[in-house]
Formats: sequence, C-alpha cells, structure tokens
Amino acid sequence: MWNPAQYERFRDERKRPFFELLARVDVAAPSRVADLGCGTGDLTLVLAERWPQARVVGVDSSEAMVAEATRRAAPDRVSFELADLAGWKPEAPLDVLVSNAALHWLPDHAALLSRLVSLLAPGGVLAFQVPANFEAPSHRRIDELRAHPRFAPALASVRRGHAEPLDFYEAHLAGLGLAVDAWDTTYLHVLPGEDAVLQWLLGTTLRPVLAALGPEEGKAFLELLRPLLRADYPASARGTPFRFTRRFVVAVRPGDARP
Ligand SMILES: C[S@@+](CC[C@H](N)C(=O)[O-])C[C@H]1O[C@@H](n2cnc3c(N)ncnc32)[C@H](O)[C@@H]1O
Repeated sequence: MWNPAQYERFRDERKRPFFELLARVDVAAPSRVADLGCGTGDLTLVLAERWPQARVVGVDSSEAMVAEATRRAAPDRVSFELADLAGWKPEAPLDVLVSNAALHWLPDHAALLSRLVSLLAPGGVLAFQVPANFEAPSHRRIDELRAHPRFAPALASVRRGHAEPLDFYEAHLAGLGLAVDAWDTTYLHVLPGEDAVLQWLLGTTLRPVLAALGPEEGKAFLELLRPLLRADYPASARGTPFRFTRRFVVAVRPGDARP
C-alpha cells in the first residue's frame, strides 16, 4: 500500500516537523530508542546519529517501507522490524520513543498512548507528531468522494487518519503522570509541480483509499478529485500554497533513570 518513492517526493516538507519535534527532546545518552512508523528509515538514522551510543529500532507495518529501511540497518546499532504498532513491544523498556507522522493511522489514542507510555523506562520520553489537518479542504474533498455511492461500498471499512485535540493529549498524558509539552504548528508549504496537492496526497492520505478501490476505480476517483483540488488550491507562479497544521507532543515519564 505504501510507496516509498511517492512519499519521498516532498521530503523537505515532511522532514522538517521531525527535526522540530526532536529539538524538544532533552535526553543526553539514552540506551534504547525506537522510531514507530519509521517509513524509509532515513529519519531513524538521524536518531542513531544524535545518540551514537544507543540501540535504535525502527518499526513499520509496510513491507515496502521496511524493505527500503533495512538497507540502512547497521549491525548492533540500527535495526528495523516489520510489525503493527498496535501490538509491538520492545525487548526492553525504552528511553526514547519517537513517532513522526504515523500514529494518526491508529485508532483509540487514549488506549494507544497508555500502552506506549507503559513501554517507557523511568525517565523515558515519548515524542510524537501527527497531522492535524483532517478538516482541511483536501480532506473534506476526499471525504465527499468517499461518500459517493460509486465508491462508498468499497471504502466503508477503510480507516481515515485522525488526531485528537491538543488538550486531549496534554490531559491524558498528564493524567498518567507525565510532564507534557504540546503544541501545534501551521506550515504554509509552497509545493512545486503540477497538481501538487494531489501528488502530496498520493504519498499518504490516498494510499489506503486507492488500495481498496483497485486500479480502475482508483483512477476514476482521482479524475474526480483532481479538478476539486485545483479549485481549492490554485497554483501560482511560485508553486501551490498548501496550509498544513501538525500537532506535536513531548512527554516525560517521571523517574531518575533518564540518562
Ligand atoms: C507518513 S509515513 C511516516 C514515515 C516516517 N516516520 C517519516 O516521518 O518519514 C507513515 C508510516 O506509518 C506506517 N504505519 C501506518 N500504520 C501503521 C501501523 N499500524 N503499524 C506500523 N506502522 C504503521 C506506514 O507504513 C508509514 O510508513
């Protein structure tokens, strides 16, 4: 379902939030670090560079992504596992758990975050970023088409991504006893190329939709979506301006063991 090449197309725009998240993680020398929903693994390597003494594991449920990531593995330092985050467990408690642009694909964030916190060592840090643009015109258009009688039956069980409100994350994690730093950032990307917003969505949001529709119906879906996106996101000589809000959370488990 995931296509590493399409995802990499807007690499700079997709990478920036990861670095902005990481800038708020204040841990000097962790032993165990995990990158959940690691994708192609290039950002997992950034974690290994930042903490050279740590064992870093990247986890993803996409065979294509893990195949690509595994080319970046380093014996005894950086490894990758094919697994669903809903049930994945590390070999030992984690000092840092990072997840960039992945948790929005999983349901029930209250239960999910409680489970992820249980994987942390005392003093461990949970740091994640999720898109928070599910009410943007791009997603509203996709939702309208998903409800179209032609496509609705095939898409009934295809999950939408979702993010909880910022204060939900703060309250839930604070309720578990963590110290929480949570914020939103809105970027105005100016995307290059023709049908740039459609191309962006092809790397992420549209993947499960197209996988469920199959080639013919998928093509029809895109032909209906294309003019709607052109109208909602007019291109300029500089490119196509595309507002995108992302939600960031860094939460520290109490304890003295944090290196
Ligand atoms: C948008 S990509 C982000 C990749 C990487 N973290 C980055 O920032 O470049 C989302 C990744 O989450 C993975 N993913 C989605 N749902 C997952 C699940 N339930 N378990 C594990 N990985 C999942 C996808 O396979 C995909 O590689």
